[in-house]
Amino acid sequence: MKTRRNFLKLSALGGVAIISNSCFSKENESVKINDTSKNVIKPIVISTWIHGMEANAAAWEILAKKGNSIDAVEAGVRVTESDPENSSVGIGGLPDRDGKVTLDACIMDHENNCGAVACLQDIENPISVARKVMEDTPHVMLVGDGAKQFALEKGFKETNLLTNSSKTAWEKWKEESKYQPVINSENHDTIGLLALDEKGNLAGACTTSGMAYKLHGRVGDSPIIGAGLFVDNEVGAACATGVGEAVIRIAGSAIVVELMRNGLSPNDACKEAVQRIIKKHKDLTNMQVGFIALNKYGETGGYSVYAGFNYALKSSSQNEMVDAKFDRNW
Ligand code: GLY
Repeated sequence: MKTRRNFLKLSALGGVAIISNSCFSKENESVKINDTSKNVIKPIVISTWIHGMEANAAAWEILAKKGNSIDAVEAGVRVTESDPENSSVGIGGLPDRDGKVTLDACIMDHENNCGAVACLQDIENPISVARKVMEDTPHVMLVGDGAKQFALEKGFKETNLLTNSSKTAWEKWKEESKYQPVINSENHDTIGLLALDEKGNLAGACTTSGMAYKLHGRVGDSPIIGAGLFVDNEVGAACATGVGEAVIRIAGSAIVVELMRNGLSPNDACKEAVQRIIKKHKDLTNMQVGFIALNKYGETGGYSVYAGFNYALKSSSQNEMVDAKFDRNW
């Protein structure tokens, strides 16, 4: 695994730029977002945790052929959702305390179109259902039985998402039934994936089985537009991983994008959001949260409360894991 601590030096936005509507302005100097003199890194894709490497590869197949970012982000996270060995996303995800695997996902494109599903059972690829909500309905989010009914109507197949190994893990947990939701089990949870395509359009996708052994019906940040994911094609995109409740409380991904709008680099925007979480919580025990961000220029960043968060980055010149900076050690 390659560490690249100085990758954030890429930031070309500068420290004090202020963005208003469709332009960046640095003091009195106005820098248009589509500044053709700026060296934009595109296409590019980033995604949370080690499972992001495979997801990025699938997204890259589309991006490298000048495909659209929205197709790339969906194709990318579908790989993780369909991996039964991954215990935090899609099939094979650890169940809630009642033994039910419930999935949350959302997707957002460069025109602010978005779709989401929450507490969806028995469907392997919730991200594709979220995309159907976005494209085929006037709504943004469907939940529970209604989301499942919609998925079946759209031709998605019913699938048992509880694998033998996740069932065994749940049965072991039941011996004590200690209600202590686990985040970052095996050092990963959500996959959030952000892409900038050849045309300069951003999109994002976010999907998870949520906290292991959560209360049935619990929904985290991952399907909440503005919390688990946010995209503004004028500025950038961000997504979150970790304790969803903490992310929702600060509208995490929307905040990261707004901070970039106000001139922060992706890394500094993620850092500021993390520090807001730290400030708002008296007890930070097990409160791991990480953000990643990608701006219109293809600059990337990430930051987490605790050490250990990393993300996968793929561009025409890079294909690697990046260790996110962090506020504190465990
Ligand atoms: N970030 C995933 C969750 O809290 O469900």
